[in-house]
Amino acid sequence: MSTHQTPLPSAAGRGRARQDAIYRPGALGVTPTVPTDMARLESRAQSVMSRRAWAYIAGGAGSGATMRANRAAFDRWQVVPRMLHATTERDLRTTVLGTELAAPLLLAPVGAAGLVAQDADLHIAEGAHASGIPYVFSCQGCSPMEATARAMAGTPFWYQLYWSTDEQLVDSMIGRAEAAGAQALVVTLDTTMLGWRTQDLDLGSLPFARGEGIAQYTSDPRFMQLVRERLGAGARAAQSLGIDPRRPLRAARAAKGGVGTLLSMSRTHPGGVRDNLRSPEPRAAVETFLDIYSNPGLSWEHIATLRERTSLPVVLKGVLHEDDARRAFDAGVDAVVVSNHGGRQVDRSIAALDALVRVRQAVGPDPTVLMDSGVRSGADLFVALALGADACLLGRPHVYGLALDGAAGVSAVIDNVLGELDLTMGLVGAASIADITRDLLVQA
Ligand code: GLV
Repeated sequence: MSTHQTPLPSAAGRGRARQDAIYRPGALGVTPTVPTDMARLESRAQSVMSRRAWAYIAGGAGSGATMRANRAAFDRWQVVPRMLHATTERDLRTTVLGTELAAPLLLAPVGAAGLVAQDADLHIAEGAHASGIPYVFSCQGCSPMEATARAMAGTPFWYQLYWSTDEQLVDSMIGRAEAAGAQALVVTLDTTMLGWRTQDLDLGSLPFARGEGIAQYTSDPRFMQLVRERLGAGARAAQSLGIDPRRPLRAARAAKGGVGTLLSMSRTHPGGVRDNLRSPEPRAAVETFLDIYSNPGLSWEHIATLRERTSLPVVLKGVLHEDDARRAFDAGVDAVVVSNHGGRQVDRSIAALDALVRVRQAVGPDPTVLMDSGVRSGADLFVALALGADACLLGRPHVYGLALDGAAGVSAVIDNVLGELDLTMGLVGAASIADITRDLLVQA
């Protein structure tokens, strides 16, 4: 697939253009479908999302202390605007790992977004493209990466990988990402097991167990080979016990709630729902996924193999300790994302913004360091850039935009964040991303 990039939209004036786009209809009594206020965005999105979707997307690890810490860390920094600088033009463009960005923002990978809308990944891609912002496709996406790549329509994208226990599957996914045109490979380090997610646990809801978020796998030839092997072994075992393995519906009816799960698996699995309902394959795919999607034994030795396995820039996501960051760069990794996975993995973990400060101080000004976890607004983005991030990833808010208005909602969320960044730069006196420096901040 072509890696042709669409020309970057002019970022100058994004803020006033965004205000105009809202205030003009406002004069006729029309208020935005996607609120600009983040608390309102969240609560409005919650009101249109199912309980299971809300638990998975908004939920975090344990008591939620890491999510709160992520936000509290931003509150400890304040911007000190300068005056009379005549900053009439702003340029938000930047380049990260050879990917040209209209602004230092990418959409973070969010798994199982299909809980929120059908064809979620495609709509997120369309929204990202409309706003000229790259999207990091989730390994736990709800559409095959090739389809999502087409929906990006030339806007750059990266691919996020969970390291499977099956090394051939790792290679297959990397090969597909390269062929589809991904411009970087983002390996998530912090989710070798799912964290203790109390909101999901209390609903007994694991999206993947219903076939939600496994489309990168069911579209993968190596993965489907493993599924067929499992089916072959299962059929032999069932036969020896005198059980007919080709009756999933009967088995599902016997278990309370099982029919809903079977229907969900049959809808998300490739092929027709009717055939899938009669086939043991969707369930075998889910079981195979749960067995192999991630590798609790992941170590630096695995990362060392990547240089041989891909020509793409390699990004390690989920770094929180400065020694891990140093080691990553010593190992030849191209960038790190300082992240605690939006507070979804370890409760009472260090705030990502605090970790960013330590990591940047440890590695110096040159290595590429991105961050996510807690970024909600253009002002947050400004602070993270001033503290040394080269760019940030935006996670949950774009899914809330999706919930409220599909692709247009995703685009609205991006435009709101970048509109505020542009206005903040203009009001503070930063004409370019390089002008957003630490001396523009004080600690509260
Ligand atoms: C997966 O990325 C998750 O956070 O659930």
